[in-house]
Amino acid sequence: MVFEQVATGGCRSYLIGCAETCVGALIDPHLSQLDHYRALAGRQGVRIAYVIDTHTHADHFSGAQRISRELGAPVVMHWTSPAPFVDLRLDDGDVLMVGKLRIQALHTPGHTADSMCLVLEDRVFTGDTLLIGGTGRTDLPTGDPVKLYESLFEKLLRLPPETLVYPAHDYKDRSNSTIGEEIASNPRLQAKDEASFVAMMNALNLSMPTHLTEALRTNMSGGKTVSQLLTDAGSRIAFISPAELGRRLAAGANDLLVLDVREAEAWRAGHIPGSQNLPRGQLELRVNKELPDPTRRIVVACEVGMVSTLAAATLRELGFPRAVGLDGGLKAWRELSLPLEESKPGEGPFAGADFDFTI
Ligand SMILES: [Fe+2]
Repeated sequence: MVFEQVATGGCRSYLIGCAETCVGALIDPHLSQLDHYRALAGRQGVRIAYVIDTHTHADHFSGAQRISRELGAPVVMHWTSPAPFVDLRLDDGDVLMVGKLRIQALHTPGHTADSMCLVLEDRVFTGDTLLIGGTGRTDLPTGDPVKLYESLFEKLLRLPPETLVYPAHDYKDRSNSTIGEEIASNPRLQAKDEASFVAMMNALNLSMPTHLTEALRTNMSGGKTVSQLLTDAGSRIAFISPAELGRRLAAGANDLLVLDVREAEAWRAGHIPGSQNLPRGQLELRVNKELPDPTRRIVVACEVGMVSTLAAATLRELGFPRAVGLDGGLKAWRELSLPLEESKPGEGPFAGADFDFTI
């Protein structure tokens, strides 16, 4: 069997595969490791045929949707998953064929309502249902300590004690454990009955994960993270350095237009000499009036280089193929002590200009 465990901070993903048929599956992929998984699969000589999320993650960004689209492999989750991009929904006891390997899904709600554990031969991928020396928390959306108790004590812990446990998280760099070891020593499994287990879970009082809202939004809906949006926009444009722009402007370059997409107030307080102000929020609505020549070379500038990246990508979409971003924005420009120009309130080439459209 092909087996790889990939750690991303405290998160654990797995690549498993059938060495005989070269078919594989990826379990709980992390958005930041997609190239890593593809490279591992290539090195191991397996084609990823399934991308499985054990549950809706609340603490990190799942890479399942993105890598599944890139590879043409279905996203697999429990049937109750809220994510609209799931292609193959499993029920309790369902089996996935991965070449000659068989992965059986156990529905183990509790950490989330859609949590599954995946049994493969001598091992079980426990998601966040069971961790080494711990369990998943039950205080996040759809969590339920009563259900977790049932999932653990009436299902998962009934697997043979020698079954290897591979969790979706470990914060102490441990690779795996066994069901028997967890029953014997996991502090959360020492509760005498359901009531004391539930009381213990409810008393944990854990802090919220850093990216809870964004992780839930993207993992449940398939929407992009803000950093993905910026990375995607950045990959569709080119950039110019402040030093290069400074040299060109000093040499009297008249073939380029510096478009400052900050708010008018910031532009008036100090801008690149000769730059034109068109705030990002008005870009699409004023583009026809303010930028009549689509063949012009346009350098888009903002404060730190993020808004300008989005704006330059939008301009390219709108048909300005020579729009580039100013790398590092006005902040980098100032750090090089390059010249700045100020304007008085009310001044500015577009003060009071009409929109192209009535909105
Ligand atoms: Fe989780």
